[in-house]
Amino acid sequence: MQDHSEPNKLFIGLAGLGTVGSGLVTLLKDNADIIRKRTGRSIILKKVLVHNLNKPRKVELPPDVVLTDNLHDLTDDPTLDAIVEVIGGQDTASQIISKALDAGKDVVTANKALLAENGLPLFAKANEKGCLLRYEASVAGAIPIVQTLKESLAGNRIFSLIGILNGTSNYILSRMTTEKLDFASALKEAQELGFAEADPSLDIDGFDTAHKLCLLIRLAFGVHYNFPDIPVQGIRNLQAIDIQLANELGYHIKLIGQVREVSDTTKTSKLEAGVFPALVPLHFLLARVDGSFNALHITANAAGSLFFHGRGAGDLPTASAVLADLLAVARHESPNNTGYFEPNLPMALTLSPGQAASCYYMRIMVEDYPGVLRDIAGCMACEQINMSHVVQRADANTSNSSYVPLVILTHETTAQAMSAAIERINELKLPKEPIVIFKVLA
Ligand SMILES: NC(=O)c1ccc[n+]([C@@H]2O[C@H](COP(=O)([O-])OP(=O)(O)OC[C@H]3O[C@@H](n4cnc5c(N)ncnc54)[C@H](OP(=O)(O)O)[C@@H]3O)[C@@H](O)[C@H]2O)c1
Repeated sequence: MQDHSEPNKLFIGLAGLGTVGSGLVTLLKDNADIIRKRTGRSIILKKVLVHNLNKPRKVELPPDVVLTDNLHDLTDDPTLDAIVEVIGGQDTASQIISKALDAGKDVVTANKALLAENGLPLFAKANEKGCLLRYEASVAGAIPIVQTLKESLAGNRIFSLIGILNGTSNYILSRMTTEKLDFASALKEAQELGFAEADPSLDIDGFDTAHKLCLLIRLAFGVHYNFPDIPVQGIRNLQAIDIQLANELGYHIKLIGQVREVSDTTKTSKLEAGVFPALVPLHFLLARVDGSFNALHITANAAGSLFFHGRGAGDLPTASAVLADLLAVARHESPNNTGYFEPNLPMALTLSPGQAASCYYMRIMVEDYPGVLRDIAGCMACEQINMSHVVQRADANTSNSSYVPLVILTHETTAQAMSAAIERINELKLPKEPIVIFKVLA
């Protein structure tokens, strides 16, 4: 909300010159004519904040740009209209955004971790200051889902949202599926090709997907879902045998982020959310999302079913989303940062994870003796779980050839009933390895 002394120019400071920051520098140069045609203004990069001033850079900065390692050079500069935060992490990023908003500057960020875990005070500050706090790049990279939920679908009641939101995990799962690699080899390949970080935990353990899901829940349902309350299961322990057996049954395993509105036993409407690897039927579009791509399927009361697919990461795809937000700043768009009129979003009413209903895939490694299936079916029946498919694969490629995988697909049941059935099966000492279960999308 600066007093623009040069109305035809938007002066910006860029915090971070890594993958996304470098992509933005390239786009500001390559698409300068488009920016002017769209907004009637030029976006002028004045200062760039980095950690290491001596590091060689992938992009050449325009001659007048000041490179600094002092964040105050950006936040305290009255000539800067807006700050782009793409350093990642939480503490310094939060400090930069907070100080920039205090100074009345508009902010664009790609930082899903910060906005999911500690975003509410920043949204409150932006609201108080009348500043834009835009974050299109924080969810699904180039896919324009933040603005879509805030504006294009604003008149809809959203029923559900399900997505593949982490390109690293999807790349690993795709390679495990098509090349029959085990998890460790697929991860190593992803790291060598630059699709996975040296420390891939946030991606493969599901927390990056959960950060994005937390932001999507706010945008779609206008409520705050406390980040630590989102049940999260990653793909670190996924075994090649489950990918193979799922494939034979007509499914691909994908890391899914899902939220949907459901009724609990008292008919109260609640949100059921979670991040988990799931079997996705091959005829679903989501099953065909391969490599490092992201995708989202939304169901809404008026728009119906919508599917979005695109690059969820990378320098130019992510910078595309950052630049779109900067164009909104250049046009002096009204903030509408959360997408809702009331500044304080209520807490989400959430379904307890045990009550969540799903179909399941269950693999039990058993000794191949007559009656083993009868015993297991008895345990399932005791918990009122109906089986839709049972396969015993004596020829499956397992680490221990004296046991065979018994695979059961169930009709819809609750997580609570599945846990109880597993407890009964374990009590009979039938499984020779820990039982593996996954949700099955239907
Ligand atoms: N990469 C993607 O495809 C992608 C996609 C969507 C969203 N995002 C989000 O975008 C943000 C940036 O990601 P990235 O991949 O571009 O990160 P990156 O390649 O690691 O770059 C981070 C940049 O920030 C600078 N930096 C880090 N800590 C700093 C500090 N304390 N003070 C000053 N500068 C600091 C680094 O400086 P030096 O270069 O001097 O080390 C570097 O230039 C993250 O929030 C990420 O989650 C990334």
